[in-house]
Amino acid sequence: MEKITIIGAGNVGAHAAVSAATLELGNIVLLDQDADLAKGKALDITQSMALIQSDVIVTGTGDYKETADSSIVIVTAGVSRKPGMSRDDLLHINADIVESIVKQVVEYSPDCILIIVTNPINTLVQLAYDISGFSKERVIGMAGILDGGRFKYFIAEELNVAASEVVTMVLGDHGALMVPLEDHCQVNGQPIAELLSRERIEEIVYRVQHAGSEIVNLLKTSSSYFAPGLAVIQMAKAIIRDEGKTLPCAVFLEGEYDVTGAFVGVPVVLGRNGVEKIVEIHLSEKETIAFNRSVEHIKERTADLNKQRQNK
Ligand code: 2OP
Repeated sequence: MEKITIIGAGNVGAHAAVSAATLELGNIVLLDQDADLAKGKALDITQSMALIQSDVIVTGTGDYKETADSSIVIVTAGVSRKPGMSRDDLLHINADIVESIVKQVVEYSPDCILIIVTNPINTLVQLAYDISGFSKERVIGMAGILDGGRFKYFIAEELNVAASEVVTMVLGDHGALMVPLEDHCQVNGQPIAELLSRERIEEIVYRVQHAGSEIVNLLKTSSSYFAPGLAVIQMAKAIIRDEGKTLPCAVFLEGEYDVTGAFVGVPVVLGRNGVEKIVEIHLSEKETIAFNRSVEHIKERTADLNKQRQNK
């Protein structure tokens, strides 16, 4: 059985563990600095597996030794947003958390594929890459699957069609400047521009860009967790089962999309080695402008973090 470690037994980590266990992707180690929280949730999830004849074991721990030799390590730990906060407001506090986690992950699972979910994702995945020393194929950020799922749902709701009939792609930063690709969004092969007014499409795009905040404002004490937990496990599944599926993920670009030196959400093929290929799709002029603005924002935020860390 594969071994998957999930760091952080909060809402996102626990839902990722449930999703991975339900899909029987492997045995799971759920680690949290509050070991009892991890142990309690792990017991609950493992007992729920017995109800569906699944033999997956979820182990809760506070000790990195138990994560040794994981094939995938998913980092969900960190502070989540409260109403009125942007993901960028979490930068410095979550950077310290991710730094300490990644150092320990590297020690115990030097060959793993590392997936970062902690916000702001595009900068913290860069930090994880720098600290781990792993190749760029083995350090990936989760974002576009979640955002693309939201886009699908809003279009499906608007047109009263099944979400599975909607094709979406969301690139760039996982934040208000993310880029839902209007010109690539289709329903059963038909472009949405033929189905909805320009004005309505723009309203839906805005809602996708602010879908996380919409949920934070309703929940008040936390951000979303069902969809992020499931989204990251779609990535783990594509890797473990070597699916060769194309999914939007935050990966390190070195010239692709005319971007160098930043982790940006783009379509990639995921397989047993992590990022098997970066897929370059044609962007319209409007999409290119929005994409470049999103990349600029990632670079500025990452430079801000690097500057602060140099002065430490
Ligand atoms: C969201 O978009 C938590 O960033 C995550 O809901």
